[in-house]
Amino acid sequence: LFGLPDQAPHERVLLAADAETGLKAILAVHSTARGPAFGGCRFWTYDNELAALNDSLRLSQGMSLKNALADLPFGGGKAVIIKPAGHFDRPALFAAFGRAVQSLEGAYITAEDVGTTTADMLGMQAQTQFVSGIPRAGAFGGDPSPKTAWGVFVSIEAGVKLHLKRSSLEGVRVAIQGLGAVGWHLAEFLHKAGAKLVVTDVDAAKIARAQQLLGAQAVGIDEILSADVDVLAPCALGAALNSVSVPQIRAQLIAGAANNQLATAADGDALQQRGICYLPDYLVNAGGIISVAREYRNEGEESAVMAEVSRIGDRVAELLERVKLENSTPGRVADAWARAKLVKPA
Ligand code: NAI
Repeated sequence: LFGLPDQAPHERVLLAADAETGLKAILAVHSTARGPAFGGCRFWTYDNELAALNDSLRLSQGMSLKNALADLPFGGGKAVIIKPAGHFDRPALFAAFGRAVQSLEGAYITAEDVGTTTADMLGMQAQTQFVSGIPRAGAFGGDPSPKTAWGVFVSIEAGVKLHLKRSSLEGVRVAIQGLGAVGWHLAEFLHKAGAKLVVTDVDAAKIARAQQLLGAQAVGIDEILSADVDVLAPCALGAALNSVSVPQIRAQLIAGAANNQLATAADGDALQQRGICYLPDYLVNAGGIISVAREYRNEGEESAVMAEVSRIGDRVAELLERVKLENSTPGRVADAWARAKLVKPA
């Protein structure tokens, strides 16, 4: 719990429970070295409380690296709420969570993640000012997913150019695992750029929509990681890249939105040995946090946010240059690069 020898331990972890609403939440503040810890709130069914704690610790550490690499004046944090088994009052549950966020007095700022919505964030405003990702009439704000998708798109563009040595996305085959909030927007961006899509989801309606609107080819959920494509974009949940899937991957480039895609660092090494370029998730999927961070600082203007998200493509280029110079893997280079930035910004 107190971190591996080469990793910074968490600064603070709050277990918040509220008997009246059934709230059981973990608010993990990994680092405030760069500023308040900023990261979304996940609402999920966990096998047990330890699994939820583990998820919050891993995700919050990832947020520290993500925010540092994106040059944001924020540290890393993440919250998870364990989805109650029976009936629950959602607004009341999130109100209780909002009070827990407020009790940290700004050390942690929350926003959307898997399972939480703009409506949840909106409802929490009565309890805490430390919340972002809120739609506002006539002003920038709200759902960060399209911005996350744009960051993944520019990363794929850069990777295709630099690793696949192809000048455009025209005809490039991309497999997307998960057509949710981010995966769907990514599919649209790629389709518009001329890429050929191979998709899957556990939700058949989403697949049908992609077939109909984007001319996508559908494959089963067990086939997507080994699909015959140039690029693989994991946009569902974590640990898609593991000792079982890595030997089967046929794509030459991997860039997607899902957090914690590598089950272990060794899986990153195995990808490199197979000549597959893996662009680290926390570099590629920072578009959403860039969006909610700008919104939170009241610097939200669509064009400025998009310009900042587009810079993720430049960082991908810089990363691949560093990988060559250091004769290492993208995962290890990005990790060291981000950890060196876990200090107060100048
Ligand atoms: P989402 O919940 O809207 O979408 C996930 C999609 O994956 C759903 O359509 C779901 O049916 C599908 N799915 C679940 N299990 C699957 C499986 N085994 N095979 C294929 N599809 C499966 O979530 P969202 O917001 O699109 O996020 C996707 C990933 O990106 C998550 O890991 C999230 O943490 C990460 N992420 C999201 C950000 C955002 O702005 N929404 C920001 C940064 C990271």
